[in-house]
Amino acid sequence: DIKGFIFDLDGVVTDTSRYHAKAWGQLADKLGVDYPGLGDAVKGISRMDALEMILKKGGLENNYSEAEKEALAAEKNANYVNLIQNMSAKDILPGMADFLAELKDKGYGISLASASKNAPKILEKIGLSDYFTKAVDPATLKYGKPDPEIFIKGAQLLDLMPAQCIGLEDAAAGIAGINAAGETSVGIGDPELLHDATINFTDTSQVSLANIEKAMQ
Ligand code: BG6
Ligand code: MG
Repeated sequence: DIKGFIFDLDGVVTDTSRYHAKAWGQLADKLGVDYPGLGDAVKGISRMDALEMILKKGGLENNYSEAEKEALAAEKNANYVNLIQNMSAKDILPGMADFLAELKDKGYGISLASASKNAPKILEKIGLSDYFTKAVDPATLKYGKPDPEIFIKGAQLLDLMPAQCIGLEDAAAGIAGINAAGETSVGIGDPELLHDATINFTDTSQVSLANIEKAMQ
């Protein structure tokens, strides 16, 4: 039986993935790297791994020292933090506030499995911190998504076995991590991109316990 839900943040609870895409796009432009599909490619990918992807795309992976890479990542993050400054509860994706309330009401465990070091700040801004007192700290991770580590830790925070958990993701890398953890995966977004998910919804407004139960039958 399902007893817990493990949430990705960016692109699932709130639409910050477009800000990540924009901030990385600004950095890629500055580096002269042409990267079609950059926005989807960096979904779920940690800050330093995403930087490496962009550098590789431009054949620049050996052009920068570790310190310079840290500076580039910090620059992207400054762009990003600037873009999320004015976020508020209006930026919660459709249906997600209701879904979280429903889960809490019915006693399901809720944890956060976001790769983002900005997650606490965003949850604060959109007013959902109280739902996510159990959150995996991405700074403690050895491996980023698609590795299952973050989703295994998300289940441990709930004192549950992976098989008792559902993970929700908008990124292909995230779905791969949920599946490898032995959890049930709910993909939110383009079903072609998220074809490995156990269940697919095209957008967050369809996410509810009833619809998940229906889809799992
Ligand atoms: C993920 C986003 O949630 O967090 C990625 O989908 C992002 O695009 C990653 O790179 C890391 O975020 P941050 O805020 O720590 O740079
Ligand atoms: Mg995401």
